[in-house]
Amino acid sequence: MSEQGKSYGDNVYVTDHPLIQHKITILRNKNTNTSLFRFTVEEISMMMCYEALRDIPTRLIDVETPLEKCQSPRITGKKIAVVPVLRAGLGMANGMLRIYSEAKMGHVGMERDESTHEPHEYYCKLPKKIEERLILVVDPMLATGGSAIDAIDKIKEYGGKKIKFICIIAAPEGIEKLHAAHPDVDIYIGHIDRELNENAYICPGLGDAGDRIFGTL
Ligand code: PRP
Ligand code: URA
Repeated sequence: MSEQGKSYGDNVYVTDHPLIQHKITILRNKNTNTSLFRFTVEEISMMMCYEALRDIPTRLIDVETPLEKCQSPRITGKKIAVVPVLRAGLGMANGMLRIYSEAKMGHVGMERDESTHEPHEYYCKLPKKIEERLILVVDPMLATGGSAIDAIDKIKEYGGKKIKFICIIAAPEGIEKLHAAHPDVDIYIGHIDRELNENAYICPGLGDAGDRIFGTL
């Protein structure tokens, strides 16, 4: 992870892996079709999941290989819940589950009002014992930060405690707002873009992530 995120806080991590940056370029290209876009979001999510789970605890268990008995690490500690912010987060959830299929899944539905850019919540369903889980909230875009902040507020209302937020592209404004509202939440970012435009779209960005993942342009 790069040091770029350090100016926002110790728990804001920006990936600098060339493979992730290469794949973000595919997402940015307006000529990338729905199927390649969806596939690439999933690939990036797998790599970001790998980064976000770097600090999860393991313990040695006994295992018997075809050759001999040995001890080998197995993930222990908190059980994991992946929570996509609908709709676009769904595109990332598949990638996360491919890396860690034992995770339970919750959903928070947030939609930005096109004129005010304010989010409103329309759905929330989370796995049982959410307070005991490590919760990976996923959404490709962190723009004004409103959707992420409200989604995490909701998850905390339900009892969520240990939360990591994972996005592919973030605007500086959104990172600052999210970190200020939820300083306890670790933030993982694929790339920090320049700014928001007058419609609260990230520039240069990749356009509307939900529309590009689901082909609703
Ligand atoms: C997009 C994106 C985030 C939100 C980010 O969702 O997936 O949830 O915008 O913007 P913010 O940081 O300014 O709140 P959108 O509201 O377009 O809904 P969709 O995923 O259903 O298309
Ligand atoms: N949501 C998106 O999908 N794209 C943006 O640039 C901003 C919010």
